[in-house]
Amino acid sequence: MAKEKSRAQASANEASENRDMDTIAYEEKNRGEDEPIPFGVVPDLEVLPKKMHAWVIRKERHGDPSKSFQNEIMPVPEIGYNEVLVLVMAACVNYNGVWAGLGEPLSVLDIHKQDYHIAGSDASGIVWRVGSNVKSWKPGDEVILHCNIESETHSTRTETASDFITYDPMASASQKIWGYETPDGSFAQFTKVQAQQVLPKPANLTWEEAASYGLCYFTAYRMLITRAKLQPSELVLVWGGAGGLGVFAIQICKMIGADAIAVVSSKEKAELCMDLGAKGVINRNDFPNLMYKHGETPDESANRFSDMKTFGRAIWEIMGERKNPSVVFEHVGEATFPISVFVCSRFGRIVICAGTTGYSLTFDVRHLWIHQKQIIGSHFANALECLRANELVKKGIIKPVLSQTFSYDDIPKAHQLMYENKHSGKIGVLVQVSRTGLKNTGEAKRAS
Ligand SMILES: NC(=O)c1ccc[n+]([C@@H]2O[C@H](COP(=O)([O-])OP(=O)(O)OC[C@H]3O[C@@H](n4cnc5c(N)ncnc54)[C@H](OP(=O)(O)O)[C@@H]3O)[C@@H](O)[C@H]2O)c1
Repeated sequence: MAKEKSRAQASANEASENRDMDTIAYEEKNRGEDEPIPFGVVPDLEVLPKKMHAWVIRKERHGDPSKSFQNEIMPVPEIGYNEVLVLVMAACVNYNGVWAGLGEPLSVLDIHKQDYHIAGSDASGIVWRVGSNVKSWKPGDEVILHCNIESETHSTRTETASDFITYDPMASASQKIWGYETPDGSFAQFTKVQAQQVLPKPANLTWEEAASYGLCYFTAYRMLITRAKLQPSELVLVWGGAGGLGVFAIQICKMIGADAIAVVSSKEKAELCMDLGAKGVINRNDFPNLMYKHGETPDESANRFSDMKTFGRAIWEIMGERKNPSVVFEHVGEATFPISVFVCSRFGRIVICAGTTGYSLTFDVRHLWIHQKQIIGSHFANALECLRANELVKKGIIKPVLSQTFSYDDIPKAHQLMYENKHSGKIGVLVQVSRTGLKNTGEAKRAS
């Protein structure tokens, strides 16, 4: 205990020795003042400004991310008794930020009824303040955040008459995704979350790596482990293998001892999937008629069916036998769903968490019922799944796949890149940490 105390004191001294005169002047001048803290500075824990920088989406600006995101000075969020205020060191771009900016398929501002929306559903950071009920975290803790906001009434079964059918908090009617269905996400200097959303930051990762995996990896974990109950030696077809979800689906398959065949649209993406441990890769551009199109003619349908069969044979070629995927990892939706149902093996599972190309799925239901396949819906993950999945990152079994990291100023540009499908893996963004490659508070303070 005494040893621990003196170590903590030594690191506090070390940190304070590294504060230059600018930092000290800022801290002395701004205890509780209006001015946001400068970027790149990790102030003394006592400092709590009233204002902060944030990228804000407003209803009248919905459109391309380059237009809908604007930097504004906003109030630092106030926390409730079960909540935690976090200084955001780094965050990461997710497709839900693109949807929020576009205002499609609906405006998120209509969901949470605020006149501003700060997107961002992933972050690494430093706990800055905790609510009076919070015992598990304290100011100064280095953390990452998961994005499931639980219903406050989850454990009391008082929300609705039927309430929920399992103890899984994802079943609660008022479960929400932080930074999408709530207005105070991570593209800001400070964010607020429920205490149960906080997870320890793996010490071996940089701030930007730690911020880059939560939403996509925890979603892929629930899809494959909890919902599809993936077993060793199964074959999994992973759509968008080099995308945010796909890079984690491939790694989970490898960990379990299942084979992943990844679908991609370029040679570079194919290489990434093979490096991550895919058994094989299919380039969807080799099949010009493969995708379902709304309102297609009978000829187009016939051509698509022919490409679907060639696509199925490409899977057999990779496997060296006539083996079909017993699990299909779906999120593309309308364009690919008929293929997913067609190639899935008898009694197989199609597990789906999104419909990027459209929500109205059209497929030949005979392929489903006659061969007794299942469609399984899945949505993010609960706190226990996040905790377990995070342990695998701490052990180095699952690795972040950060293809590039942008500065705070380039957050709209980073979303535009994702919107145009010009990225692979995850795109990180620095918020309060001054540069890439830093792993803890001491290093961040020294670099500021
Ligand atoms: N429900 C949830 O909890 C949850 C969680 C995470 C994400 N999501 C949703 O899941 C979707 C994917 O997210 P993500 O982070 O993986 O996005 P991402 O990084 O953009 O990756 C998606 C991949 O899908 C592929 N793709 C795009 N259009 C396609 C098409 N027409 N046909 C076949 N493949 C296509 C692309 O790969 P190629 O071009 O290489 O084929 C792309 O790399 C988004 O809609 C997101 O909002 C939902």
